[in-house]
Amino acid sequence: MTKDDVERSRCAFFEAAMNLRKKGRGMGKIAEALEKHKKEKVIETEKLPFQKPEKLPPKRAAAEIPKDLVPEIEYDPKLVVLSAPESVDAENFKVLRAQILFPKDGPAPRTIMITSTFPGEGKTLISANLAASIALGINEHVLLVDCDLRRPSVHKLFGYGACLGLCEYLAGKERLEDLIMRTKVPKLSLLPAGPVPANPSELLSSNMMRSFLEEVRDRYDDRYVIIDGTPSQVTAETNVLAQYVDGIIFVIRAEKSPRDTIQRSIENLGRKKIRGIVFNGYNQSYRGYKKYYKKYYG
Ligand SMILES: Nc1ncnc2c1ncn2[C@@H]1O[C@H](COP(=O)(O)OP(=O)(O)OP(=O)(O)O)[C@@H](O)[C@H]1O
Ligand SMILES: [Mg+2]
Repeated sequence: MTKDDVERSRCAFFEAAMNLRKKGRGMGKIAEALEKHKKEKVIETEKLPFQKPEKLPPKRAAAEIPKDLVPEIEYDPKLVVLSAPESVDAENFKVLRAQILFPKDGPAPRTIMITSTFPGEGKTLISANLAASIALGINEHVLLVDCDLRRPSVHKLFGYGACLGLCEYLAGKERLEDLIMRTKVPKLSLLPAGPVPANPSELLSSNMMRSFLEEVRDRYDDRYVIIDGTPSQVTAETNVLAQYVDGIIFVIRAEKSPRDTIQRSIENLGRKKIRGIVFNGYNQSYRGYKKYYKKYYG
């Protein structure tokens, strides 16, 4: 600041003070000038243009998330393979697992659908337990897919609420990697069905579904896909899906389906594709075996 500047400010201050005295009220020039300056310096942030970052930070892959940050997921105790690994039921799933992984002839089926004649025969329960049982093996990875787009329920067994899933993928709305969920079993992943769509048969019978199954099967040697299917006598897509998969496990619930309907279902699905039949709820048949099991294995 020069001498002249200092002089000029003193004069301005003096003049303003005089004005104040003259008016005896209100705001003088300095006060006005300061007030104006203050107002001009106020930055109205809400009027500033919002600038998005040029590139969003990449999503962290599931595998990168440290294990200790993953919350403990609750699961339904009906998953006996996890809740009661020493039980006869869990042992039965190991037998089924061995029959699938080590067939007497030909290669092991890698895409396997669980179906039955009618609803409520135990398909979901058996799919989930079988998938967990295979994934608990040394090398095998399993993707459990809920293909019951009408009454999805696999996610509930694994402790999840409503979520997006297969129908979004088949409709081209979401990427597969954004839909697959982890479960309590490290090598078992879950693809839930998603919200009930208007056209479940069309989605499941689509080429997208066929190529999805082919890709999952062909890309990884150690990966198995277990499909929780729909009842074959009630929905159209079961017989179409039967053509897309390598093998079928057919569930028969004790005292539920008539013999001729079961036979018709098996014929429609294709006898060659049936890799096993599960008699669900036939307690009587292994009551004797249970006794021996307890005796030898505690
Ligand atoms: N062996 C069994 N013992 C006792 N309860 C069983 C048994 N198998 C299945 N259930 C029960 O029966 C009900 C139907 O089973 P689940 O949902 O697995 O059948 P589903 O064939 O998948 O039915 P949907 O066709 O409606 O999908 C469930 O409450 C399940 O817990
Ligand atoms: Mg079911």
